[in-house]
Amino acid sequence: MNYIPENIVSEIRNAADIVDIVSDMVILKKAGKNYQGLCPFHSEKTPSFSVSPEKQIFYCFGCGSGGNVFSFLMKHEGMSFPEAVRTLAGRVGIEVPTRDLTPEEKQRFSEREGLFDLNRRAMAYFQHMLWKSRAGEPARAYLERRGIKPAVAETFGLGYAPKGWDHLIRSFSKKKIDPAFLEKAGLTVPRKSGRGFIDRFRDRLMFPIRDIRRQVIGFGGRVMDEGLPKYLNSPETPVFSKSRTLYGVDTARAKARETRQMYLAEGYFDVISLYQAGITNAVATLGTALTREHVRLLRGHAGEATLVFDSDQAGVRAAVRSVDIFRKENMDARILVLPEGHDPDTYILEFGAEAFQGVARKARSVMDFMMEDAVKRHGLSIEGKVRIISELTGPLGTIEDPVARSLYVRKLAERMGVDEAMIMDKVRVAPVGQPEKRAQSEIKPASFQGRRKRLEKKLVTMMLQFPEILPEVADREVIDRFEDPSLKSIGQSLVYRYRDYRGGRISELIDSVDEAHRAVAANLAITGEEWTREGCLNLIAQFETGQKRGSQDLLQRIEAASRDNDQALLMKLLKEKQNQARQRHNKT
Ligand code: UTP
Ligand code: MN
Repeated sequence: MNYIPENIVSEIRNAADIVDIVSDMVILKKAGKNYQGLCPFHSEKTPSFSVSPEKQIFYCFGCGSGGNVFSFLMKHEGMSFPEAVRTLAGRVGIEVPTRDLTPEEKQRFSEREGLFDLNRRAMAYFQHMLWKSRAGEPARAYLERRGIKPAVAETFGLGYAPKGWDHLIRSFSKKKIDPAFLEKAGLTVPRKSGRGFIDRFRDRLMFPIRDIRRQVIGFGGRVMDEGLPKYLNSPETPVFSKSRTLYGVDTARAKARETRQMYLAEGYFDVISLYQAGITNAVATLGTALTREHVRLLRGHAGEATLVFDSDQAGVRAAVRSVDIFRKENMDARILVLPEGHDPDTYILEFGAEAFQGVARKARSVMDFMMEDAVKRHGLSIEGKVRIISELTGPLGTIEDPVARSLYVRKLAERMGVDEAMIMDKVRVAPVGQPEKRAQSEIKPASFQGRRKRLEKKLVTMMLQFPEILPEVADREVIDRFEDPSLKSIGQSLVYRYRDYRGGRISELIDSVDEAHRAVAANLAITGEEWTREGCLNLIAQFETGQKRGSQDLLQRIEAASRDNDQALLMKLLKEKQNQARQRHNKT
């Protein structure tokens, strides 16, 4: 903010469309004037996340997060304000001057973009090595052996990191790229002995990892023999975090949105083989356990996920763990267990795409999967059944749809050979531990109780939605008499900034509000109200009358207290009066 001229910030704000930006991460549906979707900031099953194209702001009625397009990027990507501005600038094609920055600021500022650029160039280098160099011959043969067609390999940007210690370093130093920056990108590692660096990826088939906007954020590299580790991944960098990354999201997105379905596999080759078989809506985690973050990302692209696992022990254990995370995040999932020893890649290679589609159609629901898994573990002895039932009543209680729940209860009852009502009974008492409670720190949707605060809330709403009135509000010193601290803060920022209001959209007003109160401001702004100048003046007058009545009231009560000789009350009231006087005094 300090460094980017206000007029440019405002140009960027006006050029960017919040619906467009949010759509990258959330499936939005038109609902009246606004768009609605599942909130990316907390887990929910019914949409309470709203985006207003007209006001260019968002607000979640579930968790109370809100703001404009910059706030959205800041919260979703963990960016600072200048980073969010710069990112959007790049997207809408507006140049941001950096001449006022110190070299360090400039560097920090452009670090992310620098890393994207470096990764893109590294990808190009690896691609060149794979397709255009003699050294790439074994890698080309390896791809062929694994049945990957060149066109598909191209789509995924596959490449080859040559054998040797420092090919990449040397090639890039010719291009005047600082080795320290290569290290920051995770492309090199310091030599164990002595000084300097070596290439991180050597003699490996390279998989660029891209984000939703096709920016290269990291790499995976596979050995082409039995060497270890089989896969090597980029370390965490300012642009790469494994727990928030899904491999293939860039290629999978379109079909996932169209079919509302996403396949979730375990490996790079699975995603690529599925794609080649026409199942382009597939992504994979990067050798890390599934996180809630992953599931939130998935939910931004599909309504339901099909998790594909191997039927060996590790696969089933991973499936159980994942199912639990999907349940906590309130996202529907099905489980597809492939025959032991198979992953999607080997299955498709052996039986073909159609066979895969066939088994995929038979993917089981989460509850069916959990039932079968419990039966497998505990057996159908009496003790086994007791355990199975006590294990499943919890999860059954978390099924929101009562029809679905009673169908599953009946199914379990039949399978266990017990009375349905008995299970239903237990299900009701099972604690509903599911959609995990919001983190305590998150702000609750703003609520302003009491006549006075409701009036203050209405005034701030008016200021946001009818900013033409701001000079009037400033002149009459309305805000100084506010009681609620967050409403007062919002009001003060608006008055301070727009004392001489000359136009500006709601999304812009919100930027002048203190960051801690921005979500509240978005909440007030997003509700639709029609304002006229006359209506506004009436509201202000109403507030002022209430004020006056308040102080007259106090005088009457003081008189009464002294008449009744109630010393304690008198002291209290006098103190109150003093406070009022001080407040009135302070504002001048
Ligand atoms: P797998 O061992 O199941 O390999 O690892 P894969 O995907 O089937 O690979 P191919 O078919 O043998 O080539 C699954 C995923 O776990 C991560 C990788 O992301 C891999 O795709 N992984 C695996 C690592 O990060 N490091 C490893 O050493 C192994
Ligand atoms: Mn595999």
